[in-house]
Parts: sequence; structure tokens; C-alpha cells
Amino acid sequence: MENDRKIDRIVNLAKRRGFIFPSSEIYGGLNSIYDYGPLGVAMKNNLKKAWWDFMTSRNDVVGLDSAILMHPQIWRASGHVEGFSDPLVDCKKCKMRWRADHLLEQKGIKPDFGKNKPLDVREVKCPNCGGELTDIRQFNLMFKTFMGPLEEEANQIYLRPETAQGIYVNFLNVIDSMRMKIPFGIAQIGKAFRNEITPGNFIFRMREFEQMEMQYFVEPKTADKYYDQWKKLRMDWYLSLGIKKDHIKFRDHEKDELAHYAKKATDIEYKFEFSENETFKEMEGIHNRGDWDLSRHQEFSKQKLTIKDADNKDYIPYIVETSVGVDRSMLAFLIEAYEEVKGGRTTTTESTKESEVVLHLHHKLAPVQIAILPLSKKEELNSKSKEVYSALAGQYRLMYDETQAIGRRYRRQDEIGTPYCVTIDFDTLGDKKVTVRDRDTMKQDRVAIVELDNYFREKLN
Ligand code: GAP
Repeated sequence: MENDRKIDRIVNLAKRRGFIFPSSEIYGGLNSIYDYGPLGVAMKNNLKKAWWDFMTSRNDVVGLDSAILMHPQIWRASGHVEGFSDPLVDCKKCKMRWRADHLLEQKGIKPDFGKNKPLDVREVKCPNCGGELTDIRQFNLMFKTFMGPLEEEANQIYLRPETAQGIYVNFLNVIDSMRMKIPFGIAQIGKAFRNEITPGNFIFRMREFEQMEMQYFVEPKTADKYYDQWKKLRMDWYLSLGIKKDHIKFRDHEKDELAHYAKKATDIEYKFEFSENETFKEMEGIHNRGDWDLSRHQEFSKQKLTIKDADNKDYIPYIVETSVGVDRSMLAFLIEAYEEVKGGRTTTTESTKESEVVLHLHHKLAPVQIAILPLSKKEELNSKSKEVYSALAGQYRLMYDETQAIGRRYRRQDEIGTPYCVTIDFDTLGDKKVTVRDRDTMKQDRVAIVELDNYFREKLN
């Protein structure tokens, strides 16, 4: 345990406590595909809701849920058929496959993606066996499938590698149906698929994942202003959900590393600390995409995608995009919340010498907000506890737990990030009060049952 990386201990906790399981595990698993267990899906839904509410509670942002399968021309217009590829090298000796840009980064060399200049990996050897590497080949990351009964090229379609294109191709539908006026945004959460060459680091880089993307349509001359505004808004969102200031930062892209569609780009990086060389890594991308996407869809679809300016002249709006992976940000929130207390935090209950884990999750993200814990299984405590449960049910995310000693039950709740435990004891039967224990401070309050709802409304809203 001492020599494990923190991420390995989080993977272990995630599996043991029902957050995240390797997919298809009884068949040996499927590389870099994961399933979310009961607590994982609860946390993931909370995270998506926090993002969705943040976006769509603004009156200038509306939601969308576009299909995963789209017209194949979309991916030609977007540049994905031609250019959505990674530079790949194989080891001539052990046959391991690597991403050339990652190998360079690991050696401390910034990959030069300059136009017409291929990456140079001559100095790099295979990290697995030290063998010589092949020349670079480009590998397209889109998953292909077929629509209809015939598996022929004419019927080939793609699983979307990002959700953004579904927003661009619905731009006119949204304007027409919702009478939106520039500037306005469209937000969407959904699955994306990439046949990554080197997936890994748990749910950081997966082949099936979810994105939360918002595209904000603006007049070209205002794009820089809105780009700066969204940078700040998105950074503040992470801080408001408990990420510490020194664990998160912007990394503005240099001109020569900008994606083909981007005029300006920044990554919000989180301190994932997978290894000494991999401390801060991308969690979210924010781009000024100019008019690239709508111009291309106008060209390929032959449909006019312009709107009128104040002088009644047609123009194509610019787009400011914010794009974050649900899974990747969930991993960041788990890492941020994870604390291991050697020897335990409590001194009054048994098994205090054990190492304890506390997940200091923000109450908006925690899968369970309040645990209801009768001190004993005696019938009179049980029925009182069920009464307390019913009084809070429907308003808060609850868990009822009556097995094992109370100290153990507190620790079980700490481990899954439950902010409050309510204990019903024999005094409760007389004074109609319960003990509320705070996960982070371990402070205990004695609160009247009739006051519980008010008490939690203040703490959890
Ligand atoms: N529409 C822009 C776009 O898709 P991106 O930088 O390729 O940009 C945006 O992806 C975000 O999606 C990333 O910052 C990351 O959080 C998440 N993401 C991308 N690839 C991923 C993968 N293979 N596994 C998990 N999350 C991924």
C-alpha cells in the first residue's frame, strides 16, 4: 500500500465502494472501458447536474441532446475524417505501440506540431524494452460502423468523437425554434468515442466517455471578450465545487499548437499527479473557434448558416467553446477529495489504528448527502430512525445503515464522501433530538428532529 500511487488507491476504493468497475470484468475486462456502479452513477449524475444547472440557468444558454450517429458528411466538414489522427510509432522489437508526441513529452521535449514538419522521434527509444521505433504513421481515432444491412463503404458512419458537431448542425433549428439572439449558447452532455492509441490512467483517457460542451455564438468582434469571460466563469466553477486554487491552472496554447479550427485556446489543467512527469494535465478546453465550424458546414451542406447584423448584413457568428470530459473531471474531483489519515482520525472508537480514508466531496457532488444511523438494531430505535428517514426522503440523497458498530459506520460514510451522519440513540426517544456529525470537522450537533429539515436546508443548499 505504501508504494502504491495515490491514483491506484483511488481505483481500488472506486471498485470496492461501488463507484467505478472495469467493464465486462467477468470476461476479463475491455481495455479502458469502465462501468459506473451505484455510487459512481449517483456522483456522475450530480456532476452533470451541477454543470447543466450552471449553464442552462443563464437565460442566454439553452440545452440540446443530439444523436450519437450523424450524417457522415458532418465529419468531413469538421475535418475529423482528414485530420483527427494521432502520430503513432511501433517498437520494432517488442511490438508495443506508442503515441510519438507522448514519448517526446515524457523525455521533456515539447512536440513541435509545426505545419509540414513531422515530429522527430529519432532520439527516442521504446520505453518498454529500449527497442528501435518505426517511422510515424497517422492513425484516425474515429470508430466506424455501418448503417443498414450492407457493410460497404457507402453505408459507413462514425460514432461521434465529440458532441460539439451536433450543436453546430442544429444552430439554425435552435435559433428558429427558440428565437435566440446573439450572443447565446447551446449546452449539451453526451457520449463520445475515440479509439485512443494509449488510453489509460483510469478514467482520464478512455475510448468511450462523456463530454459536457457549450458553444457560445457571438459577433466576431466580441469573441475575445467572451472567450475571456468564459475562461473566468469556468475556472470559478471548479473552485466553487472544492478544487483548491493551487491545484488548477490555465495553460494557454502557443500559436503553433493551436488546433486547425482554433484562433485562441487554453486548457484548464488539474494537478492529476499520475507521475513525476505528469503533474498538471488537461481537464477542460476553452477555444475561440472563429467561424470555422459554421463556414465548413455551410460549405458542405449548401445551407445558409448566416444571421443578420445590426445593419442587416449577413454574417457567420464566431463560436467560443467550453468542453470538458465528465469522467475526467470526476476523476479530478475524486483525487481532490481523497484524504488518507494514517492511524485514523478518531480516538474513542475501536480499530482506530487503521488508516482511514475520507472523501471530502462537495455536498453537491457527494453520492449520499445524509446517512441515517440507528445506534442499535432495537425495534424502538429502528422505527424512530425510519421516521427520520421518511421526513428527509425526497429532499436529500439518503442512505440507511444499521449494521456494525457506529464508529465503523461513520468511517464507511467518510470513505464515500457523505457530508453528514444522523445518529438516532436511546435519548432520542425521550428528547426527540438526534446527533448530526459533520464529515470534515467530526463536530457533533444535537438537533431536534422537527428542526432537521431547516438545519440541512441551510447546510446543503
Ligand atoms: N469539442 C472539442 C473537443 O472535443 P478535446 O480537447 O478533444 O476538445 C475536450 O476534448 C475534453 O474532453 C478534454 O478536455 C477532456 O476532458 C475530454 N476528453 C477528451 N478525450 C478524452 C478521452 N479519451 N477520455 C476521457 N475524456 C476525454
